[in-house]
Amino acid sequence: MNQAKRRTVIAGNWKMNMTPSQTTALINEMKTTLPAEPACDVVLCVPFVDIAAAKAAAEGSVIKVGAENVHFEEKGAYTGEISAQMLTECGVEYVIVGHSERRQYFGETDDTVNLRLLAGVKAGLTVILCVGELLGEREKGITAEIVSLQTKVALRNIDADMLKKVIIAYEPVWAIGTGLTATSDQAEEVCSIIRGVLAEKYGDDAAQGVTIQYGGSMNAGNAAELLSKENVDGGLIGGASLKAADFAKIVEASNQ
Ligand code: 13P
Repeated sequence: MNQAKRRTVIAGNWKMNMTPSQTTALINEMKTTLPAEPACDVVLCVPFVDIAAAKAAAEGSVIKVGAENVHFEEKGAYTGEISAQMLTECGVEYVIVGHSERRQYFGETDDTVNLRLLAGVKAGLTVILCVGELLGEREKGITAEIVSLQTKVALRNIDADMLKKVIIAYEPVWAIGTGLTATSDQAEEVCSIIRGVLAEKYGDDAAQGVTIQYGGSMNAGNAAELLSKENVDGGLIGGASLKAADFAKIVEASNQ
């Protein structure tokens, strides 16, 4: 991370975990474990039905609340979907788009990710765009191509001003929920490739301002090493964001 140039952001992604009452209990616990003045922004992206409980519990703390997805239309016949305006009215400030689980299980494509990102940014949300290669793609040596393409398509029609509301999360799919973490060098290499893609499109100054997180089995034990890298500006944390003590340690690692 380079805190002189950009914000460090530690975000939890709770995925399909926690009921509203469990949300209240976990955030109350986190308020006792998190540092009072962290050197990073602290975000919890929670299931839609937990947003109200999360907002209430997080009030007066450093925790900001995010959602895990957003639809690209403003309203209409899209059963089961949630619009950006619905999220902002609930006090949501962040939203994840393009998570590999959405791509893998729910038919999300680079094009739909682009539309969701646009809708989120236009509504004033800070959008966490996930990109990352499959194990087979890494083994074929095409990680840079895959991640660059995902980034470019997702950022179609996003101008330099809108880019200020975008965070990119590099999440190698083989590292998600597997206990396998990318080495800090692997994470740095791909995060810096992503920054290069941004520099090509928006210029170096704008690219330097973008927060690029790493995600994939990031935990209390490996966070400091990953965050020590110049281009790793935070983390998108799955499993370890469901444990108050572990999540607090990851947040503390940004104080180095
Ligand atoms: P884990 O931290 O559980 O590997 O999940 C990472 C992730 O998918 C965050 O979005």
